[in-house]
Amino acid sequence: MSKIYVTTAIPYVNGAPHIGHVMDYLLADTYYRYHTKLGDEVRFQTGTDEHGNKVFAKAKAAGIDVSDYASQNSQKFKDLIALLNVKPTGFIRTTDKDHERRCQEIWKKLESHIYKSSYEGWYCEGCENFVTQKEYDENNGVCPDHQKPYQKISEENYYLRISDFKDKIIKAIQDDELLILPDFRKKEILELLKDTPDVSVSRPVKSLSWGVPIPDDDSQVMYVWIDALSNYITALGYPENDISDFWPADAQFVGKDILRFHTIIWPAMLMGLGLPLPKVICSHGFILANGQKMSKSLGNVVDPIEAINKHGVDAFRYYFLRHIDTFVDSDFTWDKFEDAYNNELANDLGNLVQRLATLANKNNIVIDSTEEIAIDTDRQYSDFMNLFEFSKAFDYAWEKVQNINKRIDVEKPWEIAKNGTADQLKECLTSLIKELLFANELLSPFLPGVTEKISTIFKAGQEIIPPKTPLFPKN
Ligand code: MSP
Repeated sequence: MSKIYVTTAIPYVNGAPHIGHVMDYLLADTYYRYHTKLGDEVRFQTGTDEHGNKVFAKAKAAGIDVSDYASQNSQKFKDLIALLNVKPTGFIRTTDKDHERRCQEIWKKLESHIYKSSYEGWYCEGCENFVTQKEYDENNGVCPDHQKPYQKISEENYYLRISDFKDKIIKAIQDDELLILPDFRKKEILELLKDTPDVSVSRPVKSLSWGVPIPDDDSQVMYVWIDALSNYITALGYPENDISDFWPADAQFVGKDILRFHTIIWPAMLMGLGLPLPKVICSHGFILANGQKMSKSLGNVVDPIEAINKHGVDAFRYYFLRHIDTFVDSDFTWDKFEDAYNNELANDLGNLVQRLATLANKNNIVIDSTEEIAIDTDRQYSDFMNLFEFSKAFDYAWEKVQNINKRIDVEKPWEIAKNGTADQLKECLTSLIKELLFANELLSPFLPGVTEKISTIFKAGQEIIPPKTPLFPKN
């Protein structure tokens, strides 16, 4: 048994959650459930990122006190997490007093790597990020993620001397001591690190009032990324607690847009604090609509709650964990979602359960005993899971479901019922059901709800009763 620590990015509370936010939750939850099944003690940390101008401006526009506004939206993220059947063990808000105090202590510990200087250059408020002239030129002055022109700013800032750590960070990434997944992102980051300048880590209060004050200098507040990244260790009680049981993190899930903050600023902070680097940073792709970014102006934004309500949470998890590739951008469209629901979940799995349970019930088949199935007994599946290739592990488990359907068509248990002996029928159905229970176990980190129902239906030593309504009713 190991102690495992897994985290998600903490979203900004400048609005309600959107569909893009679900990937972090679902991937981390799958990892959490898989490791829990392996018998590990897992801490699964998430939360909300509440400071910064974006949140402040939205609250102001809505005419709501900023901390009330942050609380309302933070609650919406908590509600979404519950709807997704995602089970974090910790939820931090960066406005928690303990977090703010710990952040200030972290700042003090980093002081020998921090200096004051003036900054004149570009900033993207959407990314809460300083932009180099090179990036400005490459993007013609407009942020590709937010489609807004970069702002010119000129101000006094504190800087974190990335140059103190750069070579060590590059080496840690090259040697996979800090493993960046997928590999093509690792290459991008190594390229970026070559000419990464020191990073501004504060903003004057006049430009950013909604933030954690810098210790001993009330004219400045912390740059949101310093505050946000710290959450991964303040949530464990750093600096006053010994966090070595759970730190370094085993897996940190983030979207591709924020990988650079997690692989440049974050390692620099950790090195400055004398803490080890996380073992894996897994960067997932973006959810697109017909190959396009979702945006309010294009009118193609999907509301996660609407999609969950459509066919239930297992159908939602099914689509996002199987059909959205773990590492690269993938499409969500309602048509594809419907297709996956009807042709795969309802046909492959729902019908299979119904058919097997009905046959077993009609012929009084009871499963005598089932050995506890260990989730790591299938080598190929474990390899995929351990490499964070979750969508491939899911495909692999699904193939097992499809193979059981094929076996039924070939072995025709209904004919054995007519022409064979009771023993032959029992042997055939028991073997099919055990195969289903094995596939079910492999599917359980992805589809916790329905797999639990299936285990209950086919529980050893009791009458097998087919579900009254199909597991995935068709429209
Ligand atoms: N607050 C920062 C993260 C700080 S972590 C110390 C932030 N917030 S965010 O709300 O913009 O994004 C939260 C997460 O959602 C990130 O992992 C981001 O990549 C992810 N996504 C946002 N839109 C997305 C898609 N359309 N598709 C997939 N994930 C995307 O960044």
